Amino acid sequence: MSERPFRIDAGDTSVECDPDQKMLDAFLRAGVWIPNSCNQGTCGTCKVRISTGTVDTPPPLDTVLSHTEQEQGFVLSCQSVPTSNLEIDSVTVDSSARHHVLRDISGTVGSIRQVADDTLTVTVMLDEPLEFTAGQYVELSIPGTGATRPYSMANPPGQDGELEFHIRRQPGGAATDGWIFDGMTVGEPVAMTGPWGDFCFTPDDPDLGLILLAGGTGLAPLKSIATAALELDPEREIHVYHGVRFESDLYDVEHWQTLAANHPGVNYTPCLSRGQWSGRTGYVGDAVIADLPSCKGFSAYLCGPPAMVEAGVKALKRRRMSPRRIHREKYTPAIQLSPV
Ligand code: FES
Repeated sequence: MSERPFRIDAGDTSVECDPDQKMLDAFLRAGVWIPNSCNQGTCGTCKVRISTGTVDTPPPLDTVLSHTEQEQGFVLSCQSVPTSNLEIDSVTVDSSARHHVLRDISGTVGSIRQVADDTLTVTVMLDEPLEFTAGQYVELSIPGTGATRPYSMANPPGQDGELEFHIRRQPGGAATDGWIFDGMTVGEPVAMTGPWGDFCFTPDDPDLGLILLAGGTGLAPLKSIATAALELDPEREIHVYHGVRFESDLYDVEHWQTLAANHPGVNYTPCLSRGQWSGRTGYVGDAVIADLPSCKGFSAYLCGPPAMVEAGVKALKRRRMSPRRIHREKYTPAIQLSPV
């Protein structure tokens, strides 16, 4: 294998890509923005068309890249490693302040707190502050495996180099069962890359209210977004719906209740899809339909399991929200690794 970097030309932009480096990683580290979301080949957001050159890339899912697109030269940049110099269709050089240069990050575990059944809040103290936009995520390196797992920041940007993550146990998961729930200790070093993803809070028109729909630990980036939005405008109207199956899965209730008590525009509604209790039951999308006669004049951010996100998008469209104001992040299961 060649040891020299390959060059990727994209219109007026050019970046170098090290041997074994994925194209998306090379672009983002060079400060050239390519839309991206999952970084694991399941969303298709990062596709680019190669006009000249070759790459090593695993076969993409048909649902992510159609046969026609593959024949036209499209590849997933998050999965593709150049094996020659490349020319790709030009990329948009986005100098928007919400996109940040990807980099390696180091820190130490600051705290580990069980907040619900099978759910932890973990904080990491960074060696250097990280610039990111509310809604983005980092990839934590699982010690001794070479594998990574994505976790969204729950804190807003600019908080003294501390990151907060909400982590739910995945049975048999290499990150959770093999490490975080079984052996992670306060003070241990943590390696990450980030920030990733374009699930980014966009202030939009400050007069727009926000609807935040979360499933499970999909609440994390929405907590970051709500905090960032309230820092800009403490009066902003924000409707937060948090869907979980059982009451024992709920967490951060006090945080949201306090936020609602201190900000007259904030409404917080936890919803149980299976359990019985004195509060709301059912799915978050149904709760939106029941509560809000129209979603015109709002932006929405949805994060959680794919079925919850899709149902939530349908509900918002039924309530006449403009599709361009709907931002979504699906938590897709990681490719299964053996537990370590
Ligand atoms: S498929 Fe590449 S970012 Fe999702």
